[in-house]
Amino acid sequence: MAPMPEAPIMEAPAPIAPDRDRGATLELQNLTVRLYRHDSEIAAVNGVSFTLAPGETLTILGESGSGKSVTLKALMGLLPPRARVGGVVRLAGQSLLDLPRAALSRLRGRRISMVFQEPMSALDPVYTIGTQIAEAIVRHEGLSRRAAMQRAQEMLEHVRIPSARRRLSNYPHEMSGGMRQRAMIALALACKPDVLLADEPTTALDVTVQIQILLLLRQLQQELGMAMVFVTHDMGVAAEISDRVAVMYAGRFVETGTARQIIRDPRHPYTAGLLSSTVHGGRRGDSLEAIPGAPPDLAALQRGCAFAPRCRWAEARCRATDPPAVVRDGGGLVRCVRAAATA
Ligand SMILES: Nc1ncnc2c1ncn2[C@@H]1O[C@H](COP(=O)(O)OP(=O)(O)O)[C@@H](O)[C@H]1O
Ligand SMILES: [Mg+2]
Repeated sequence: MAPMPEAPIMEAPAPIAPDRDRGATLELQNLTVRLYRHDSEIAAVNGVSFTLAPGETLTILGESGSGKSVTLKALMGLLPPRARVGGVVRLAGQSLLDLPRAALSRLRGRRISMVFQEPMSALDPVYTIGTQIAEAIVRHEGLSRRAAMQRAQEMLEHVRIPSARRRLSNYPHEMSGGMRQRAMIALALACKPDVLLADEPTTALDVTVQIQILLLLRQLQQELGMAMVFVTHDMGVAAEISDRVAVMYAGRFVETGTARQIIRDPRHPYTAGLLSSTVHGGRRGDSLEAIPGAPPDLAALQRGCAFAPRCRWAEARCRATDPPAVVRDGGGLVRCVRAAATA
């Protein structure tokens, strides 16, 4: 069957009621990840910390290769077995990094769930959409298959997939890109997780579908009281979706703040560069590729500020030591010696 054309956004169905108390705070302290490729050690994440309350959205913004996906996969326990993960990750007070694999897989989907950039990495080509969503519900909530299939249909309705009942029996390849993305969101939300990790969930889609999916995620998040970590390389998308933004560079948060602060008053030269490379400071669809130079090789990180080689303000001390994290008004942080001088 040919993929269906994208349907216009439909009338919103009644809100999904969260069926248990929500209150899971996600806490990261100094998360580090080392990955291995051939003989080299890749310093993919180099001390990431944040706290995310229920209902909040944090956007992680950064160029390709800055460690965004690795950060999310570390939270989900989805890194290759050779990866070394350090620091502390707590969800509702429970430490995740030292959980046995089986216990973590029970949490996945139910308490913390991920939407991937590429739907086919989450959807199984050999099962129908309905079977996949229902299976997750049966596994986590012990519903009967029939009740789970009913819930699966409701989830497809919630992500505004037209003819949801009929769509249950579609295979992923029978859907358009936008519908597959919606189906993956339905799968990720099927067990009403406390925390949703959304890894560039709209990058592969055309602009009108992107906007629909962003609005949808925002609305579902508010209905469910979920916390969300949203990853993007698009400043316009970040401004649209988030309360707080963290700008990531070479595995670190180099600047954090409210979306408004980051856009109106960037303090880190990298953030400022991202903004000026985005025409008019944040139009959707503009990419961040325009800063001269290239991100550092994470297999050969030097001492000091990782942005120094591309920074027009860099001084000797930037290359000598790690820049301190300076607290800005409103509680955000900036890692730059120049910010330290003006704080
Ligand atoms: N499975 C892996 N094995 C080795 N290196 C990896 C693996 N996955 C990602 N990396 C490396 O980790 C760094 C960060 O990657 P990633 O988090 O995917 O970046 P982003 O999502 O910000 O584009 C990159 O240098 C990438 O090549
Ligand atoms: Mg990525």
